[in-house]
Amino acid sequence: MSNVIVSPSILSADFANLERDVHMVEDAGADWIHVDVMDGHFVPNITIGAPVVKALKRISGIPLDVHLMIDNPMKYVEDFADAGADILTFHYEAVKEEEIMPLIDKIKSLGVKAGIAVKPKTIPSDIDKYLPFVDLVLVMTVEPGFGGQSFMYDCADKIEYFKQKCYADVIIQVDGGINAETADLCIRNGATSLVAGNYVYNAININAAIASLKG
Ligand code: DX5
Ligand code: ZN
Repeated sequence: MSNVIVSPSILSADFANLERDVHMVEDAGADWIHVDVMDGHFVPNITIGAPVVKALKRISGIPLDVHLMIDNPMKYVEDFADAGADILTFHYEAVKEEEIMPLIDKIKSLGVKAGIAVKPKTIPSDIDKYLPFVDLVLVMTVEPGFGGQSFMYDCADKIEYFKQKCYADVIIQVDGGINAETADLCIRNGATSLVAGNYVYNAININAAIASLKG
């Protein structure tokens, strides 16, 4: 078994039973809990904010991996860090160039791991200069905004690109359309963390589904 970090997305959980659904994936071998924060501006949907992260922190025993699909992340990272986020990943496309390094520094100063995410159409070399400073790079393999979409195979090369460009300890995470088959491709290309929503939460056997993502 590989050391792939599996981070089930609670976007596919039952929001009326979040505690039950978080414990369900923890018991089935999840490494992190992926929390998709959407603001209705950067992406068309609205989901959840820092108060829900704070509530999850009370009941979860594993790291909270918070994916900020929001404009102006600088305004909110402190709230999410205070709420108990362990990883804060912002979108490159949501931040002005001159604000990216201050944002990375801010996240790290809060004692949280800093991640940078790229949408499918973003050219990977656009974020080259930030790679030495982040703890995680998130490759989106669907357009952010909705769970349950199909994996975009033309994004898979980006995983290899970042694997080669980043320091060895930088986590290369892939998010969108992950199942056993696409996980295998991502791991072969160098992914070290996989996010999965529908595949995990709709599985008949969640233990087997999570195990199948570990390569
Ligand atoms: C999409 C989110 C994903 C999503 C993944 O905007 O960032 O984390 O929940 O869902 P699946 O695995 O169903 O594609
Ligand atoms: Zn996500």
